[in-house]
Amino acid sequence: MSGNMATIIIQVTVAAVMCVTLAHSAPSHVVAMTTGDVTAAKPVNMTVYYESLCPGCNFYIHNTLSPLWPKIKDLNLMTVTLLPFGNADEKKIGFQWEFHCQHGANECLGNIVEACVLHYYPDTSKQLEIIDCFNNNFFKDLGQDWKKSLKSCNSTGVDVPKISTCASGHEGNNLEHDIASRTGPHSYTPYVMLNGTPNDRAIENLLEEVCRVYTGPKPDICKQAHI
Ligand SMILES: *[C@@H]1O[C@H](CO)[C@@H](O)[C@H](O)[C@H]1NC(C)=O
Ligand SMILES: *[C@@H]1O[C@H](CO)[C@@H](O)[C@H](O)[C@H]1NC(C)=O
Repeated sequence: MSGNMATIIIQVTVAAVMCVTLAHSAPSHVVAMTTGDVTAAKPVNMTVYYESLCPGCNFYIHNTLSPLWPKIKDLNLMTVTLLPFGNADEKKIGFQWEFHCQHGANECLGNIVEACVLHYYPDTSKQLEIIDCFNNNFFKDLGQDWKKSLKSCNSTGVDVPKISTCASGHEGNNLEHDIASRTGPHSYTPYVMLNGTPNDRAIENLLEEVCRVYTGPKPDICKQAHI
């Protein structure tokens, strides 16, 4: 099988498992443009809207974002903001938020666990290590037991009791509400923005798009990105 064929198959697979919603609307194919300003080379800000039990989201985090991150983390090329809420909605009931999630109530629990992880581990490398592990366990287990999925990640060094306490109480509820507030209009998940602009191509080739949008001198790794 040729490399191109493999790429096409992967793209079709991702597209087929995207979690589409009609609840929000957004431009279907808006792509960020570079400005060519070499002097002010700020990292590209990547934002990801996703859900703990969305197949395409799990695929993207596990097969694209997590493997790429260690290769670029020291290059000041990109920042990553994960927002696990996606196509859910929320309603305030008394002092608590009640969430409704596209893939069922267990997905909401997974999202809350991840909201707690993101809060307690501000470092992107640690966030991605724990979230990739947890999300992949949780997804494979069809979201049946978030505590078991979290415990299976103890080799990442995650503080299982601390995250469990957070996820079981008001703290996790409020952290998830904060993530909901930071989730803007979108058409499906995973939904990726680079510097605030929706970028579908970053779902198919993240490194290529980040290199293209980055305004500073291109680091060597961008030569591998077919641009
Ligand atoms: C990325 O976000 C930070 C913090 O909000 C901001 O200061 C910076 O200008 C953004 N970078 C770009 C390239 O827009
Ligand atoms: C993780 O937990 C399992 C069982 O709960 C245990 O066997 C294993 O030694 C633990 N690993 C670490 C690194 O703590």
